[in-house]
Formats: sequence, structure tokens, C-alpha cells
Amino acid sequence: CKCKTPEEVVKRYWQKVRNPPEEDCTICMETLSGPSGYKGPGISGVSRADLVGQLEQCSHRYHVQCLVAMYNNGNKDGRLQCPSCNTIYGAKTGNQPPGKMEYHIIPHSLPGHPDCKTIRIIYFIPPGIQGPEHPNPGKPFTARGFPRQCYLPDNDKGCKVLRLLLVAWDRRMIFSVGTSSTTGESETVIWNEVHHKTEFGSNLTGHGYPDPDYLDNVLEELKAQGITEEDGQQL
Ligand code: APR
Ligand code: ZN
Ligand code: ZN
Repeated sequence: CKCKTPEEVVKRYWQKVRNPPEEDCTICMETLSGPSGYKGPGISGVSRADLVGQLEQCSHRYHVQCLVAMYNNGNKDGRLQCPSCNTIYGAKTGNQPPGKMEYHIIPHSLPGHPDCKTIRIIYFIPPGIQGPEHPNPGKPFTARGFPRQCYLPDNDKGCKVLRLLLVAWDRRMIFSVGTSSTTGESETVIWNEVHHKTEFGSNLTGHGYPDPDYLDNVLEELKAQGITEEDGQQL
């Protein structure tokens, strides 16, 4: 978040490496066993030049000054991206309950996309007990209509949407627990703010094909959740 200094943001995601190896820091290209090669302004006060940090999820190692310099040179949105593997630290996450997301190609075309096959996504979420991030922690929640199946055209844009939906799933943003606007049931698993096409060969519900604007619309919805093209490279 914008009220934190770059050092505070960066510091949350690494642990100190005690005996830095004879390996190059891929930000400054100097060895990790020596000082940071970053010579830009305003970095020397931040930490010792020889301090090396290991990112907590992906384990890639850098000079801490190099990480801070990289963060400073980016858009400073509170998120830190590992320059080796693109893992993102500090992204917004939702309260989607545990479950499974699968996808495969089916050899049929969607209305409006006659020249490609179709990606079918299947979501499985079982009922369970609400966690602290849900409306009534400790109480059960229901899960209706699972497995839920959704469809994308198997073309460039459809594949891009799939990549971003996989990121959204990891960040627990596809579903939420709340009141269904369709059934009125409360404390149940509901779609979050990212629309899916659950109807295959027609568009009787408004959640089907053809819909020439769908892929662009869902990309906008993903963006509103903080998920963009760069996040898709994480996979
Ligand atoms: N397919 C895709 N999206 C839907 C559907 C549907 N059949 N019904 C509603 N949505 C969208 C709504 O437009 C809204 O934006 O999901 C969002 C949340 O609506 P809710 O009715 O609260 O969601 P939920 O109860 O999860 O969905 C209702 O969708 O997939 C089916 O089996 C599911 O019958 C259930 C229905
Ligand atoms: Zn470095
Ligand atoms: Zn990494």
C-alpha cells in the first residue's frame, strides 16, 4: 500500500541469507557474496550493501538494496515481483473456500467462435465450515451446482483469459461466500466479480455464447481485481 515506504514493502517478503553464495545477483549482476552493485540515488541508507535476502515463496536470492531499487523503479503499488520467476508478493487475495479447478480442451466450437475448439473449465468446491474471513466464522456454508462448468474459446485471447483465471483461482478470487442473488440463499458459495460463461451451445441465460464482448469484459473484470497480463506470466 502507498503509505508504506519501499523498504517496509520489500522487507515483508524476504529472509536474511547468512552466508551469501558465490552466485550472481540477477538484478545488479554482481556476486551475492559481495556488496550490491546498484549505484543509484537514495539506496545507501536503506540497508547494508552486502545484505542478501531470499524471497519467501520462490527462494530466489538478491541483494536487499537491489530489491528495494527495483521496487522504487517500478509502479510502487505495494507488490513485489521476483525478476527471475515473476512470482508476485503482496497481491490482493479473496476468501474463496478450498476446492479444485481443472480444464481441458473439447473438440467443439462455441457459437461465435467457429474456427477454434473450446476450453472447458470445471470448478469443484465442496460445502464446509466458514473461516475467519467469511461472514459467520465456525458456521457451515453450502455449495450449490458444483461441479460448475465454464467455457472459453481456445484461441489466443481465450488462453490469456484462462491464464489469468488460474491466477485468480490461486488468489482465491473466483468464488466467495455470501448471499446468492439468484437463489437468495445466504452463507453459500457464490461467483465473485469475474463473470464466467456456464452455457455452452446457446445464450438463454445471458451466461452463454455468442457474446462478442465477453473476453474483453472479463479481462476488465480481472483487471479490477488486480490481475493483469504480467500476472499471467507467473505460470
Ligand atoms: N452462470 C454464470 N454466472 C452466473 C450465473 C450462471 N448461471 N448466475 C449468476 N451468475 C453471475 C451473476 O451475473 C452475478 O454477477 O454470478 C454473479 C453472482 O450471482 P449469484 O446468483 O449471487 O451467484 P451464484 O449463486 O454463484 O450463481 C447462481 O450460477 O453456475 C450457476 O449453479 C450456479 O445456479 C447457480 C447460479
Ligand atoms: Zn544485486
Ligand atoms: Zn523467484
